[in-house]
Amino acid sequence: MAGIYVHVPFCSQACHYCDFHFSTSRNTEYEVVDAIKQEILIQKSYLEGELISTIYFGGGTPSLLRTSAIADILNIIKKCFNISVDLECTLEANPDNIKKNKIEEWVDAGINRISLGVQSFRDEDLQYMNRSHNAEDSRRAIKLLKSSSVKNINVDLIYGFPSLTKLAWIDNLKSLLSFDVQHISCYCLTVEPNTPLFYFIKNKKEKALSPKDGRDHFLIARKILQDSGYDHYEISNFCKPKYQSIHNQNYWNRTKYLGVGPSAHSFNGVSRRWSVRNNRLYCNGVQDGSIYKEEILTRHNIINEYILTSIRTSSGLNVKNLKNTLKKSELNKFNLEINKLENSNLIIFKDEMLYLSEDGMMLSDNIATNLFVTSR
Ligand SMILES: C[S@@+](CC[C@H](N)C(=O)[O-])C[C@H]1O[C@@H](n2cnc3c(N)ncnc32)[C@H](O)[C@@H]1O
Ligand code: SF4
Repeated sequence: MAGIYVHVPFCSQACHYCDFHFSTSRNTEYEVVDAIKQEILIQKSYLEGELISTIYFGGGTPSLLRTSAIADILNIIKKCFNISVDLECTLEANPDNIKKNKIEEWVDAGINRISLGVQSFRDEDLQYMNRSHNAEDSRRAIKLLKSSSVKNINVDLIYGFPSLTKLAWIDNLKSLLSFDVQHISCYCLTVEPNTPLFYFIKNKKEKALSPKDGRDHFLIARKILQDSGYDHYEISNFCKPKYQSIHNQNYWNRTKYLGVGPSAHSFNGVSRRWSVRNNRLYCNGVQDGSIYKEEILTRHNIINEYILTSIRTSSGLNVKNLKNTLKKSELNKFNLEINKLENSNLIIFKDEMLYLSEDGMMLSDNIATNLFVTSR
């Protein structure tokens, strides 16, 4: 099984925290869509005939695109690749783009999962983030989606910023629970370098984020969503039984994927490749392949990526398999680290599988880094 990611690099407004590649000018939209179609044709052998289990339109804001462009891209993908009958086909959407007829057009084009960027049900939070919609737009959008033929809906929320009190975060989660969606992603706000939020904090126009807020909010989300029947299957992801996202799981399981569009990443089991973060350069270079940079993965890269991603999931890290790939000195260091983490109650080690404890979940990146295999 393999996946395809289509990056749509346009947004109506720049959110102050966002470091993804997008442009608020839509001047190049037609050219970018044409270039994406060309790239799919050029790259049709990249996944070596593997069956495609997921197609994901991410961004940027794919819901801004005219539906005929989405349908054209999907038709080309379907001509070039073997598509699973159980295909998960996701479109990321912003609440202000949701219209009744548009949802049904997306479904007719082949979309069967919508991921809606709500972020918060409080207008003051949306203004802090510089979102293009208000809370009422989000409520209206979720209601429309729930009454449509889309039966797999994800909603993204963001937590961990100064104005979000614990009570406000609980209210946000309860507002979302009232809509009974199948999947919820909760992201702790990250201050990415060179974003407007980064400079606001640097220049003291906004308060710095508090890691304690992030931890408190994480525990609140975990408790409330688990108590409401959601499975906490990855640090940032919760789902109703059987609604785990195939797209997300493919990333964590090291399944091959082809990314098309400017800034999209691809992985073929041997190397990672990414294309230029510039719409004009992308369009100009797609034919001759000059848009790509590539990194051949070393043995260390492969092991460390497995540690970093598997440890975040509720399925855990398979220590038995990992140990078979480690050299003696690496194995000694790894065993020592596991003992330390177990004694600090940060991990649970059971039947050769390693899982993060609740305390460990809040330190997942540090724990993974401690377990990494180094070339020294
Ligand atoms: C890149 S956006 C694309 C989808 C859509 N444009 C939107 O904004 O909803 C995907 C998700 O990434 C999350 N995200 C982006 N930047 C983030 C940041 N700095 N910290 C936490 N979450 C972030 C947001 O929750 C967002 O819904
Ligand atoms: S968070 Fe989404 S809407 Fe906001 S700038 Fe980033 S990609 Fe665009």
